[in-house]
Amino acid sequence: MKTAISSIAGYLPSKIITNDDLSKTLDTTHEWIFDRTGIEQRHLVSDGEFASDLGIIAAKKALEQINFDPSNIDAIIVSTTTSDRRFPSCAARIQGELQANRAFAFDVAAACAGFIYTIAIADSMMKSRQLQNVLLVCCETLSLFVDWTDRSTCVLFGDGAGALLLNAAEDDSPSGLVATKLYTDGSPEKYNSILSHNGPQNDNRGYTTMMGRAVFKYAIENMSASMHEILTENNMTLNDIDWIIPHQANRRILESLCKMKNFPLEKMIITTQDHANTSSASIPLAMCRAIENGRIKKGQTILMTALGAGLVYGSAIIKY
Ligand code: UT7
Repeated sequence: MKTAISSIAGYLPSKIITNDDLSKTLDTTHEWIFDRTGIEQRHLVSDGEFASDLGIIAAKKALEQINFDPSNIDAIIVSTTTSDRRFPSCAARIQGELQANRAFAFDVAAACAGFIYTIAIADSMMKSRQLQNVLLVCCETLSLFVDWTDRSTCVLFGDGAGALLLNAAEDDSPSGLVATKLYTDGSPEKYNSILSHNGPQNDNRGYTTMMGRAVFKYAIENMSASMHEILTENNMTLNDIDWIIPHQANRRILESLCKMKNFPLEKMIITTQDHANTSSASIPLAMCRAIENGRIKKGQTILMTALGAGLVYGSAIIKY
């Protein structure tokens, strides 16, 4: 069998904060943020709104698109590093709210690479346990985990959710996941200082710290290497790829990747300007938008790549 996408939807909270809005309370400017990152605005949760709330809305949209009965979902896998609570999981709440009564549900924490990790897990579980329908939800509220007085980090992030219903398709189906490739480099300097969520161990909120330049360099090197490896292992080249959907951390990283790979920037889906960095939700949100505006079409081949705190990174190839 092959893991295929039955439906995909995204949800962004209604509050929009522009760079100019931020410059009213922080020592920053629209020009600095836009020139360094390509970000123009971000959506943020309001008081009392949490990751699972965003995930529930995205999931309901994905199910409604194809009138799918939640009781036919076998498993719900949620990617989040900004869970509402330490426990229970966001996945348990989403399962309950959807009344997906037959589904088992769990969270995965793989930071900004969470979409690549969870689609890989979903694919393996669908094959080994013969699951028919798996709901994958990426829901993130990084705005609740940054220090809003630290201009070097808070301007970079936004909140959002993406949801995909995956189904077990026949081997000869024209659509489906081709391959995934996952990596982790948890060596002490990467784990502790490059990009992490700091604060007392028992403080769920804490704050995010990042050595921006180092992460920038690692992101380009490692996303590029993982793209090369997944293509080579599957006897493919970038000529076989219709679209690249990367993790949307910084437009300059994406431009550098395209330049390095000699891949046309017009064939890369970029939403950084409108969504900022929504961690693991960024790839499904970008995919959703590109399908809605008619850029990505059924049958096209997409290469996805991401890197995040850990460091964790990886790539996936899917025929939509
Ligand atoms: O999702 C996980 C992956 N994350 C990423 O991929 C992020 C990767 N890194 C980046 O995107 C970039 O490194 C940043 C956008 C975070 C920073 O850009 P940069 O060109 O590397 O700037 P920098 O950190 O070296 O800072 C340059 C200057 C500093 O001032 P001085 O020391 O040169 O006087 C900063 O204090 O810019 C200053 N600065 C700001 N100025 C205005 C930092 N943040 C701001 C700000 N507004 N918001």
